[in-house]
Amino acid sequence: MKGKVKPLLTQGKLPRHIIVIMDGNGRWAKRKGLDRISGHKEGMKSVKSLIKASRQLGIKAVTLYAFSAQNWKRPQIEVEALMQLLKEYLVKEGNRLVEREIKLNAIGRLWELPSDVYEVLSKTIEKTKSCKEMTLTLALSYGGREELIDAVKRIISQGISPEDLNEGNFSQFLYTSDLPEPDLLIRTSGEIRLSNFLLWQLAYTEIYVTKTLWPDFRKRHLIRALLNYQNRERRFGLTSDQIIRREIS
Ligand code: IPE
Ligand code: IPE
Ligand code: MG
Repeated sequence: MKGKVKPLLTQGKLPRHIIVIMDGNGRWAKRKGLDRISGHKEGMKSVKSLIKASRQLGIKAVTLYAFSAQNWKRPQIEVEALMQLLKEYLVKEGNRLVEREIKLNAIGRLWELPSDVYEVLSKTIEKTKSCKEMTLTLALSYGGREELIDAVKRIISQGISPEDLNEGNFSQFLYTSDLPEPDLLIRTSGEIRLSNFLLWQLAYTEIYVTKTLWPDFRKRHLIRALLNYQNRERRFGLTSDQIIRREIS
């Protein structure tokens, strides 16, 4: 497979924006007889590998579901370990992001993060703000319903009248206002659900679910997902004939 897939990939259209529900750290650890935190640590290797591979392949935007608004309800020791891992990642990888021209972005109720984590996150975002090759967005304390509620609150507080509201300006109130629509969602570990991720933005996103657990996910798995995406026909409510004609013209 190795030598053959890369040329294959260049023949089709790559997604501009991929989003990933990185799931299965706990199950990975359980299978190995380890504690859940070891699974999260191992998952960080997959995060680094995915970022490197996406950048190499020329993907312009990658969004990672790193911590959901609901994940705060996990055992305190696990929440603290996840926050610590996030902080370590930002401290250690900040310079590498700059070297690779990757701009860091974050979405979610960031104000709910512990202040030390919020601080390194802000610093890393600032440090990478002029990077142009790829945007890496971390979804932190993120919930899709929460995002919609926050958007509606802002719309009301700005006094926007109902007749002025449309899809275009509504999406400007979302955390993702600066990002392109997600083209491909990858979820690891086999669960076929959205778990409150990007509910508005996923309207026409192609969904790819793999049984591979997140700590086992590497470049070859990403390539497999991209090849699968390239064989889809995105119709956006139109007929197949209309899409073919649109592509020809
Ligand atoms: C994903 O792995 C990481 C986070 C949600 C932060 P899980 O911790 O959900 O792993 P499973 O689903 O228990 O296997
Ligand atoms: C979704 O995974 C959240 C992240 C990957 C950060 P969960 O493991 O929290 O989702 P559920 O509980 O299986 O729906
Ligand atoms: Mg899970």
